Amino acid sequence: MLGSLLPVIAALPLLPERGASQAGDIDALFWFITAVCALMTLLIFVGVIAFAYKYRRRQNAHAVQIEGSTKLELTWSILPFLVMLVMFAWGADLYFKAQNPPKDAMEVFVTGKQWMWKIQYPDGTREINALHVPVGQPVKLTMASEDVIHSFSIPAFRVRHDVIPGHYDTLWFTATKAGRYHLFCTEYCGNQHAGMIGWVDVMEPREYANWASGGGAGGTLAEQGQQLFQQNGCSTCHQMEQQGRCPILKGIYNKPVQLADGRTVIADDAYLRESILDPNAKIVNGFEPNIMPNFKGQLSEENVIQLIAYVKSLSPSTPASQQGQAPTTTPSAASRAASRANSAKPGQSIPRVKQ
Ligand code: CUA
Repeated sequence: MLGSLLPVIAALPLLPERGASQAGDIDALFWFITAVCALMTLLIFVGVIAFAYKYRRRQNAHAVQIEGSTKLELTWSILPFLVMLVMFAWGADLYFKAQNPPKDAMEVFVTGKQWMWKIQYPDGTREINALHVPVGQPVKLTMASEDVIHSFSIPAFRVRHDVIPGHYDTLWFTATKAGRYHLFCTEYCGNQHAGMIGWVDVMEPREYANWASGGGAGGTLAEQGQQLFQQNGCSTCHQMEQQGRCPILKGIYNKPVQLADGRTVIADDAYLRESILDPNAKIVNGFEPNIMPNFKGQLSEENVIQLIAYVKSLSPSTPASQQGQAPTTTPSAASRAASRANSAKPGQSIPRVKQ
């Protein structure tokens, strides 16, 4: 009976529409837990009322002592335990899926700042409080905060993740339906927290390719990073071919790095970010500490993202989508120009910030 009711309940407009591939799975678990809670609540209330009636005060009643029932106690312990285990296994499965973006996911970078979301694409395009993604393509968001804890949430995609200052947080989704969806900050972050909202525009792949072909005014993310690399003097010590005073960065992205203290770490985004902002945290084997200046407070999170994109671009094995190419297109000059013109349309809310 409950089974035939579930589709009816699921069709009620209680949740936002589903715009991403994992939304159905997450809703199914949500409704399972809700159904279990409703059933337990019902059992408890029916029990309370039935027993209150059955054992109501009567004249000349004789109390009968009950010494307990092992069978009954085991039943009411083990059955709920098994139901909880189902919730645990089901939830853990969804959690692990949510934590592991597919390797071919398109990368987008998000920086939370009081009180806006700044978005950077590998091709160098930048937006504020607006995210454009194609239908059917897994998208991985790498998120940083410039000040306090924010939380990035797209209810229609059933994704949400806190964005904590000091490290990267990630989430991923595959949008399934073209349209506009709200995005929110869901962690109180100051007096304009409620204004930290925006839109996700999910576009058909062809439409998206057209939109994305504009590129960034200051070149790709990697090119922007290369500029910073020169401006900040990184290139004097991190030389391309021959060993300078600092490690060669060519080819290190996502590769193991041997540290002076004997540990081996992977040169992923988190490691690179830490090494830029706090170079002494992990010293590479064979190098001296206190040679590289501390860039904490000198570079914004957006700058760090640009520098990491540059380091990534020095590793030829990195998939094209992570090397600052627009993931779905190789635009012609004409479509670039057309798209630039389009991007000025009002209502699209995409200020493309010049570097
Ligand atoms: Cu950012 Cu609330």
